[in-house]
Amino acid sequence: MTNINICFKNMFRPPQIAAEHAMPDYVRRRMDAHHVTRIEQLLGGEHPHAWQPAQAGAIFLAGNDYLCLSGEPALVRAQVAALQHGQDAQLMSAVYLQEGSAQHRLEHKFARFLGAEDTVLAQSGWAANVGLVQTLAEPDLPVYLDMQAHASLWEGVQSAGALPVPFRHNDLDHLQRQVARHGRGVIAVDALYSTNGSVAPLAELAAIAWHTGCVLVVDESHSLGTHGPRGAGLVVALGLQDHVHFRTASLAKAFAGRAGIITCSSKFKGYFLSESRPAIFSSCLLRHELAWFDAAIDFVAAADARRLALHIKAGALREELGALGYNVSDGSEQIIALEAGPEPQTLALRKLLERRGIVGAMFCAPATPKNRSLVRLTLNSGLDRDQLRRIVEACDAVRDLAGVENWPSTRRLHKLALV
Ligand SMILES: Cc1ncc(COP(=O)(O)O)c(C=O)c1O
Repeated sequence: MTNINICFKNMFRPPQIAAEHAMPDYVRRRMDAHHVTRIEQLLGGEHPHAWQPAQAGAIFLAGNDYLCLSGEPALVRAQVAALQHGQDAQLMSAVYLQEGSAQHRLEHKFARFLGAEDTVLAQSGWAANVGLVQTLAEPDLPVYLDMQAHASLWEGVQSAGALPVPFRHNDLDHLQRQVARHGRGVIAVDALYSTNGSVAPLAELAAIAWHTGCVLVVDESHSLGTHGPRGAGLVVALGLQDHVHFRTASLAKAFAGRAGIITCSSKFKGYFLSESRPAIFSSCLLRHELAWFDAAIDFVAAADARRLALHIKAGALREELGALGYNVSDGSEQIIALEAGPEPQTLALRKLLERRGIVGAMFCAPATPKNRSLVRLTLNSGLDRDQLRRIVEACDAVRDLAGVENWPSTRRLHKLALV
């Protein structure tokens, strides 16, 4: 008999109720804030992320498969072959991989694709960012984060015990003032921001990092595959490979799989694998996942026509939505934000669009500031002329019903026009 059993025998027996219903008040209070205050009282009982199955023919604009890779026969064949003919799965942490393993070969192939000395594959973009910031930032080191930088970068700062120092979105003067005040550290930004499709001023950020002695981390999750020569991203497009210390990306966007990646030197990689907790304490990618990405690199590199189609469609749709009175001026790329502001208005917009066969994603706190929630439309290269017309028609039809004229984002636009 174990000590635990002895202990229980002598203790007061708790009543026979499911443990979850006997939750202590400090958990219940938080659950009530979600279920009662937010869902019932603010949103009338509807969950912001719950949706009905989309109607037949609906246009799905809530995913990030920008180049329409999922289901691509060449990639599926590569993955199936790996499942059928692969040897035993390697169910272990990546730190135990042998030199020359399939993952290492793929990391070198990614390095050539990205114009980097080496890369490390992680289980997700989240794991890549958290692990990288952990390895760069020691306790109390300032990490300068664009206020719209992805949550995983902020999470990395928190888990490192470093000092998060926010700077206003794409505001270089504010960043410089913050660095002057707090000193050398890490600057972390997204190349292309995931809520509104705005682009970071990467050349200027690289110059600031250089002059202030900071390390620059650029998350290319939404620009890898879609931007730059052969889809190598915005850093390569600007020739900044040697000025950006680390690039990271989720491969669950244009690469349509499940993994993350970091560019680095081979020397840093050795250090990373013994410091990054997600790399050490979580298992590595599986062989069929690697096979997908191996085929996907070749496919993405050759997908200039899809990239061009995506950019043309994004530009055209932005123009049409702007002409309808939506403020889409915050961004310029394939991610388009319809920023209704408060959550109830944003939920109403999402449903109005859904009824017209347009499925977007609702973004609200903690993904946006509390009263800047939005419906995000992410475009893909496969949208045809008729679908683009239907998106514009739906946005036109719901404009008055959704009260676009009174949205804070619309008022912001009018104010700018007056300046
Ligand atoms: C900019 C950015 N970085 C990192 C991530 C995390 O990537 P993953 O979904 O692969 O964990 C995301 C995904 O939402 C993202 O948009």
